[in-house]
Amino acid sequence: MAKKEKAVKVLVVGNGGREHALAWKLLQSPYVEQVICTPGNGGTAMLANCYNLPLAVDDFAGIAQAALSQGVSLVVVGPEVPLSLGIADYLQQYNIKVFGPTRAGAQIEASKSWAKALMAEARVPTAKYQTFTDVAAAKSYIAAEGAPIVIKADALAAGKGVIVASTLEEAYAAVESLWQQGLTTVVLEEFLEGEEVSLLALTDGMNFCSLLPAVDHKRIGEGDRGLNTGGMGAYAPAPLVTPELLTRINKEIIEPTVATLRRRGIDYRGVLYAGLMISREGNLQVLEYNCRFGDPEIQAILPLLKTPLDELLLACVEQKLGDLLPIQWHRGSCVCVVMAAGGYPGAYVKGKEIKYLEKAEKLGSVVFQGGTKIEGEELVTDGGRVLGVTAVGEEMKEAIAAVYRGVECIEFEGMYYRRDIGYRGLNRTSTLHQSSYKETSL
Ligand code: AMP
Ligand code: GLY
Repeated sequence: MAKKEKAVKVLVVGNGGREHALAWKLLQSPYVEQVICTPGNGGTAMLANCYNLPLAVDDFAGIAQAALSQGVSLVVVGPEVPLSLGIADYLQQYNIKVFGPTRAGAQIEASKSWAKALMAEARVPTAKYQTFTDVAAAKSYIAAEGAPIVIKADALAAGKGVIVASTLEEAYAAVESLWQQGLTTVVLEEFLEGEEVSLLALTDGMNFCSLLPAVDHKRIGEGDRGLNTGGMGAYAPAPLVTPELLTRINKEIIEPTVATLRRRGIDYRGVLYAGLMISREGNLQVLEYNCRFGDPEIQAILPLLKTPLDELLLACVEQKLGDLLPIQWHRGSCVCVVMAAGGYPGAYVKGKEIKYLEKAEKLGSVVFQGGTKIEGEELVTDGGRVLGVTAVGEEMKEAIAAVYRGVECIEFEGMYYRRDIGYRGLNRTSTLHQSSYKETSL
């Protein structure tokens, strides 16, 4: 039989830590020759066999032309914005294979009210809610329901559209502030308590398979306090999710959602990311759906993936996912610690020199770059979440120790990171071993 050639070219859309991790993992595949990132960042610029093209994520014509002229076999879309603007629909017109849902499917993230209606139709458990387009009606609902209550803007708001209000005053102020920003459709939602888990499932629209469950630390401060961020660190697998719980998540949440999308005639080939709340009693509720890989969750998941990533993503696009299952995983745990610019998630400065990454890498960490760029000879900060330092270990404890050995090597002015990433997973051992995991993935 003729040996397959290392000739696959993949184009990755986006410029964050997620896209650096995707490019890094794709390049480990036996068949991937080259990755092109549009626009990429300092990290993707530094990867061997990877180069950046300065095209904005919504420059669909430019991306299509690059994919066609470079003979790209697959386009992988990282962020939600181009998906919600219809990048998949656009590229499909040129017969370009694209991993990521069409505009219709991306509504699952772009519109909270659309997602809630879909959940109701799929009979997926989620918090009680109501949608409002009138301030006075929203306020009287808040008065009737009381606090705590959750207010969600019905639009993509880069992580800033959700306010968990603990008092009535805060809730009224949140509604006022959204209206002032022109966000005049809101979902008001019952406050749920429990532990959050991110379950990312890959789907070809027919079959699906869940990746290892991950936990993201969304708050800026240690002990999960303070402002919400894009994510300050993550770990996988989440020990809270036992094989039995994963089976329930697949059956009660992912399967009916994929089936409902299909029934609605939506061609969904990509990631279905379920943000879940798991109560002390083991009740499952969906907090949100996203239409893409989580950042930084995927940085903590990919190092454990054994199945070549390009094959997995292509199988989703070609609707052959069933042929590749079950996914193979390495044993162990993985932790990713985000090093942010001082001031994030508020205002922060850019352009600070980043030093000693190679020291961290010598100690065994992989450093995924989020907000960086190369300026002359220097690597400098260029965003809020600058780096995602990542390490694996046999147990969570070892992964945590390894990741902080790496973090402590690195320097840039004003850097901030949480010292407690992974602590929730520390005193529990994952029971999601490879063998039992295999049985539970569809
Ligand atoms: P979302 O963008 O919908 O995931 O919301 C961002 C964060 O707000 C979530 O990760 C939760 O921490 C919190 N959150 C969202 N909805 C609820 C809810 N119904 N109850 C409690 N916390 C919530
Ligand atoms: N880490 C949360 C997200 O990607 O939405």
